[in-house]
Amino acid sequence: MEFKKETRPLSQVDADTLVIFVFQDELIETELKTMDAAFPGDFISAVNQECARENFTGKPTQAVQLPTYGKLAAKRLVIKGAGKRAAADTATMRRATASVARRMSSGTAIDTIAVHVPSVTADQALAQAVIEGWLLGCYQFKKYKTSADDKKHAQTRQLVILNSPLNDEQFQHAAFTAATIAQATNMARDMVAEPPDYMTPSKLAEIASGLSGDRLTCQVIDRDEAAKMGMGAFLGVARGAHEPPKFIVMRYMHPNAKRTIAIAGKGITFDSGGLSIKTALSMEHMKYDMTGAAVVIATMGALSRLQPAINVTAVAAATENMPGSTAMHPGDIVTALNGKTIEVNNTDAEGRLVLADALCFLSKEQPDEIIDLATLTGAVVTALGRAAAGIMSNNEDLLKRLVSCGALAGEKLWQLPLFDEYKDALKSDVADLKNAGARGEAGSPAAAMFLKEFVDGRPWAHLDIAGPAWMDKEKDELNKGGTAFGVRTLCYYLLAQAQ
Ligand code: BES
Ligand code: MN
Ligand code: ZN
Repeated sequence: MEFKKETRPLSQVDADTLVIFVFQDELIETELKTMDAAFPGDFISAVNQECARENFTGKPTQAVQLPTYGKLAAKRLVIKGAGKRAAADTATMRRATASVARRMSSGTAIDTIAVHVPSVTADQALAQAVIEGWLLGCYQFKKYKTSADDKKHAQTRQLVILNSPLNDEQFQHAAFTAATIAQATNMARDMVAEPPDYMTPSKLAEIASGLSGDRLTCQVIDRDEAAKMGMGAFLGVARGAHEPPKFIVMRYMHPNAKRTIAIAGKGITFDSGGLSIKTALSMEHMKYDMTGAAVVIATMGALSRLQPAINVTAVAAATENMPGSTAMHPGDIVTALNGKTIEVNNTDAEGRLVLADALCFLSKEQPDEIIDLATLTGAVVTALGRAAAGIMSNNEDLLKRLVSCGALAGEKLWQLPLFDEYKDALKSDVADLKNAGARGEAGSPAAAMFLKEFVDGRPWAHLDIAGPAWMDKEKDELNKGGTAFGVRTLCYYLLAQAQ
């Protein structure tokens, strides 16, 4: 898809579809006249009538589409509700654009779409958000559909942004950044959408290796090597699976980098629970337990295209969690890379085990900060639903920076506490700690307290993405199924750290 910026008056833009946004409870007539005084009067009153007939008031859920019958250069006009003007920001514009895009991509192919971006903020972020919204909203996963009807996916050749205050260079930069971030997100979505017998740890490793290129390298540590290194927690989880585990390390290095940031992703390509086996119902979507890994892998791919002046080391700790005959028993004790012993009282609390070794591995390299992403607990879904990820950190400054980058990126992060009291639940009679605390009591913070034991006191933040990483219904820029929540936050954050 091609992105272009244009300054022609709206009535002269000869796109197939012209998209404009109208804020809630504002007069369409006035809005249209402000956008372009040359809009024909009879057309404006026709639009007015149609909007009134559909009870259009500019709510974010509303949209009206109508033919222009030659009154405008564009063939069709879409009027999209954008909610209250006072609440408008990059996130609302991204959402509004995505819902138009989704609707369009289920129709017939369109050559050119022109989007009039309202002047909510004057910076580059808005054009970027709109382009991201478009590409995220168009996402579909059709690989396994066989009928031509099901496979149909209307492509747009060109997206034209109107009313952008950016100069050409700024605009091209915004478009390239947006497209890279959205494509990385969509790539991670594909990885989650694939069935778990296809998206194995080996497949993840293959994809990660395939991304190596400009300043990006990939190293895959297999079972034997991980054993030699002492990754007993990671390998404990892999014991019950036939599929070989892969500890994937990716490094992005820039010669002008001043900071090194480490990121880690939970890569359980299927979580059956192990011997502490899940119920059929709670196992149904457990292919998405590798979202953290997909997110860090895709983000590293994006970095090598965006080339920010920063160093980033990523680990995707990939294995299945299966109940094979060689699986860990509840009661087994494993030793993590930092020498700490863990009594595995519940094999379904496997994410924190694989992350323990990932965090030890990364801490050893003494990065400035560590961020992990994991579909770690069902408890975070109970607490926050699908609306936000839980964020927990031992460093308030890092936490605040991540939350604000998340807001810009359109991903909500909500802080949960790390009170020392939660550590008590992880006391073991026989080992340094146990992996699962009291069920039903602060499950997400307790899991994070466990992780904290493996970061060697370094600034660290943990994003529990179990809620928003999976949607039962599409909503705004989020697709139904695996959403790859976190790619955008990480990309925005890492780009901001390079400046
Ligand atoms: N992958 C799950 C967490 C999860 C649950 C993600 C639901 C998405 C939706 C994790 O490995 C797990 O099983 N956690 C247990 C921890 C418990 C045994 C302490 C949980 O949340 O029940
Ligand atoms: Mn589990
Ligand atoms: Zn899991």
